[in-house]
Amino acid sequence: MSSRPDEAGKLLLTELAEMKRRSDRIVMVTAYDYPSGRLADAAGVDIVLVGDSAAMTVLGHDTTVPATMEEMVMLTRAASRGARRPLVVADMPFGSFQVSDEDALRNAVRFVKEAGADAVKVEGAGPTVSRVVALVGAGIPVMGHLGLTPQSATMLGGFRAQGRSADKARQLLEDARTLERAGCFSIVLEAMPAPVAARITEALTVPTIGIGSGRDCDGQVLVLHDLLGLYQGRSPRFVKRYAELGEAIKDALERYTADVRSGAFPGEEHTYSIPDDELAAFEKSLAGG
Ligand code: KIV
Repeated sequence: MSSRPDEAGKLLLTELAEMKRRSDRIVMVTAYDYPSGRLADAAGVDIVLVGDSAAMTVLGHDTTVPATMEEMVMLTRAASRGARRPLVVADMPFGSFQVSDEDALRNAVRFVKEAGADAVKVEGAGPTVSRVVALVGAGIPVMGHLGLTPQSATMLGGFRAQGRSADKARQLLEDARTLERAGCFSIVLEAMPAPVAARITEALTVPTIGIGSGRDCDGQVLVLHDLLGLYQGRSPRFVKRYAELGEAIKDALERYTADVRSGAFPGEEHTYSIPDDELAAFEKSLAGG
């Protein structure tokens, strides 16, 4: 890892553009609590995204739409306590920035002041561009997100790849340029053809972070529960599973259940002792009433 931290050990936001310039790939992963933030830090991850994918991975919803500000602030606060070196980016949930620049600013300030986030992420272009200008103007770094933007999956025709026609690909490139001009320090490119993401990456000076968009992006992001094999639902084709923790956890819980039921747990080594004379005195006191 050649990138520079600040005095507190936090990766400098400005290092991301330097990493792009040096062709050092940027590593981002989602995390939603203290242990996952800490483990991402220990593994040398550069950016922790407290994604609104939490609505699906940890809160059990079918989409990301129901995630609330209260839930996202609580999860971001926990993850940022664990992630000391990585930049912590809080995902602005659906409804927290769509209505007005003022709403967006009020909610983004909460992520920075109450939850310890270093930056926020917003989905889309169009009206989102004015939100980016407002947030960056107030000193809050903003990450953009184009392509498959799950908060508007219904409008996009479901969870499907974007930018697969010349017109749509051109629009994505225009949107990326607009978000860069508006002040985004980085842009997530989700589920678009690799050559389209490559052209967007080439056209920008800020780094792109790909998910399902090929290897030519400046960095990659995966959802923690997908890569660890913890998410029960069907993972998209772009996910690579690095572990099967769901199976490992189920196996451990089954063995624990069997041990409790059979009396094999707890054993002697899991219990506390009391001196014989103290126990005898205790029993005598009980016998005496
Ligand atoms: O919410 C999330 O986890 C995300 C990533 C998939 C980029 O937005």
